[in-house]
Amino acid sequence: MAEKTWVRMVTAQTPTNIAVIKYWGKRDETLILPVNDSISVTLDPAHLCTTTTVAVSPSFDQDRMWLNGKEISLSGGRYQNCLREIRARACEVEDKEKGIKIAKKDWEKLHLHVASYNNFPTAAGLASSAAGFACLVFALAKLMNAKEDNSELSAIARQGSGSACRSLFGGFVKWIMGKAEDGSDSLAVQLVDEKHWDELVIIIAVVSSRQKETSSTTGMRDSVETSLLLQHRAKEVVPKRIKQMEEAIKNRDFGSFAQLTCADSNQFHAVCLDTSPPIFYMNDTSHRIISCVEKWNCSAGTPQVAYTFDAGPNAVLIAHNRKAATQLMQKLLFCFPPSSDADLNSYVIGDNSILKDAGIEDIKDVEALPPPPEIKDAQRCKGDVSYFICTKPGRGPAFLSDESQALLHPETGLPK
Ligand code: DP6
Repeated sequence: MAEKTWVRMVTAQTPTNIAVIKYWGKRDETLILPVNDSISVTLDPAHLCTTTTVAVSPSFDQDRMWLNGKEISLSGGRYQNCLREIRARACEVEDKEKGIKIAKKDWEKLHLHVASYNNFPTAAGLASSAAGFACLVFALAKLMNAKEDNSELSAIARQGSGSACRSLFGGFVKWIMGKAEDGSDSLAVQLVDEKHWDELVIIIAVVSSRQKETSSTTGMRDSVETSLLLQHRAKEVVPKRIKQMEEAIKNRDFGSFAQLTCADSNQFHAVCLDTSPPIFYMNDTSHRIISCVEKWNCSAGTPQVAYTFDAGPNAVLIAHNRKAATQLMQKLLFCFPPSSDADLNSYVIGDNSILKDAGIEDIKDVEALPPPPEIKDAQRCKGDVSYFICTKPGRGPAFLSDESQALLHPETGLPK
C-alpha cells in the first residue's frame, strides 16, 4: 500500500479587511448575496492575517479542521458550501517527484485536513472569519489545481462569510452585489492595489468590552426584517456613495474619503439602532473616540483622520499620512493611557515606529503628553482601550512555499 503514504500540502496567508462602505443585509441567506455593494481596504497581513495549510492524502478518512490548534467541526453549512464549490472545480494534479497523481474524479473521494491560525486574538473581534474563509478557498484552489481567478474564487469565499470575498485582493476592493439569482455575479474586484495610496496609516483601537455582541449574521437578519432605514440605505444612499467613494479612492481625495467613510459607519450603526430589538455595537469608549476625531477634524479645517466601526466597539482609524497618524497617536494616548505598569510595546503593537515620531519612548512620556487643545476638559481614561494596532493598507493573499511554515506535518498531515 505504498500509494497510501503521500501527503500533498499547500500553505497560504490571507489578509483581513475593513469596509469603508458597509455590507449589512442579505437578499439570500444561503448563497450570501448582499442588498448593496460594499468597498473595503485590505489590512497589512504582517499585522493581521490568517495562515492556513490544507492537505490531501489517501490515508485521511474524513475532512478535519483545526483553528488556532483546536479541532473544530466542518459540518456547518458554510464550510460545506465552500468545500462543495471548490471540489467541483478541482482538476488533475500530478507531482512526478513524489509519485502523486490525482485524477479529476478522485477529488470527490479524497479527504482534506485544514489547519488555520490567526496572528491576532480571535476574541478581539477583528473580522477573523473574513480572512479565514478567504484563505481556505485560496489554499484549496491551489491544492486542487483549480483554474479560477481571484474574483471567481471570491464568489466561493463569499459563501463562507460575505466579507471574506473582499479578502482575495490587496489595496481597495469592491464587492459587486450582482443580479443573478445563483449568485454567480456577486463577487469582489480590486479597485486599486496597495501601492496606489500608500501614505495612509491605520490605527486600530481594540476597545475593552464586557458584553457578548450580536453576531453580524444574526444582526443583519434582524435589520433586514425590521429596519426601514436599511431599505432606504440600500436603495438610495449606498449606490451614490459607492460612486463617490470610487472617485475619492482613485483621486486620493482624503477629504471626501474621510467624510464618506465616517458617514457610512454612522449610518450602519443607525440601521442597527433602527432594528427591532435595537442592536448596540459601539460603547461609550467608541463614542469618545468618534468625538475626539470629529473635534480634531473640525478644528483642523480639513479631515485628518477617518473612523469606522464594524459589529463591535473597536475603532479603525485611517489617518491621511504619517504626520496625522503621529498626532492621532499622541491624542489617543493622552485620552486612553495604558495602566502605569504596562509595557508600551505591548500596548501599541504592529508597526509602532510611530511612537518614536511622536517622541514617546516610555510610560513617563505618555504621562507628560499635553491634552489635545481642541478637546475642552479632556479626561484620561485608563483601561478603556486594551491595546492599539498600527498598520497600513496591505497586499492580497500569498502562498508560503517554505514547508517549515506549514501548520500540518508533511508526513502525517496532522497539526504540528
Ligand atoms: C459590519 O461578513 O461577518 O463587518 O456574511 O453573515 O458572515 P456574514 O457576515 P459578515 O458581516 C460583516 C459586516 C460588517 C461590514 C462589512 O464588513 O462590510
